[in-house]
Amino acid sequence: MRDFLIAPSLLSADFARLADEVRDVTAAGADWLHLDVMDNHYVPNLTVGPLVCSAIRPYTTVPFDVHLMTMPVDPLVASFAEAGANSISFHPEASLHVHRTIELIKSHGARAGLALNPSTPLAVLDHVLDMLDVVLVMSVNPGFGGQAFIGHTLDKLRQLRERVDATMQRTGRPLLIEVDGGANASNIARIAEAGADVFVAGSAVFGASDRTQAIARLRDELETVEERAGVAAME
Ligand code: DX5
Ligand code: ZN
Repeated sequence: MRDFLIAPSLLSADFARLADEVRDVTAAGADWLHLDVMDNHYVPNLTVGPLVCSAIRPYTTVPFDVHLMTMPVDPLVASFAEAGANSISFHPEASLHVHRTIELIKSHGARAGLALNPSTPLAVLDHVLDMLDVVLVMSVNPGFGGQAFIGHTLDKLRQLRERVDATMQRTGRPLLIEVDGGANASNIARIAEAGADVFVAGSAVFGASDRTQAIARLRDELETVEERAGVAAME
């Protein structure tokens, strides 16, 4: 069975108290911290840059998962890597040379991720999947937290799971499927069953007053998936 990781998205945190929020969600059991970088160009919203990333970096040892919703991508890679990003994901539509951008991210020692919008076909992975560390499947249109999960993402995840398993078998390298947008305690089990390893959760974690309880609820749901898979394996 796969290991499941929970990545709270800082987008739904209280931005007036970012350091406290980072400490709080770390104590609550976050596996990764997801940082949504929006430029008011690739997406119609504006958030944070490398300066904020490095300012909050000392408040946790949890890996930083930077999701670039920016166009262009390349000029920001080095500064986010220096600001403490452990993985950097970007959208193929935002980079003229996707292969080059992946190499650039990896040259800075970060995990490289490609982020697929709900309408972006899996075919964009065709010639780069072997190089990637993460495929980030958007289950909402990028730009805002708190949107509803788009149901047909589940089919996309099932197809991607097959491709990723085959790729990992061939390359022997780890490759994670991350889902971003609208995940919560009522749908996380279905998302896991469809194939995700990493679950971004913004409003479902930061929107709750008790983040420990919120993450524990998500983990309880994921445990039911593991139990069902265990039973199925014995049958
Ligand atoms: C949307 C962002 C997501 C978002 C997730 O553009 O990429 O990371 O913050 O937030 P929720 O979990 O509230 O959908
Ligand atoms: Zn995101």
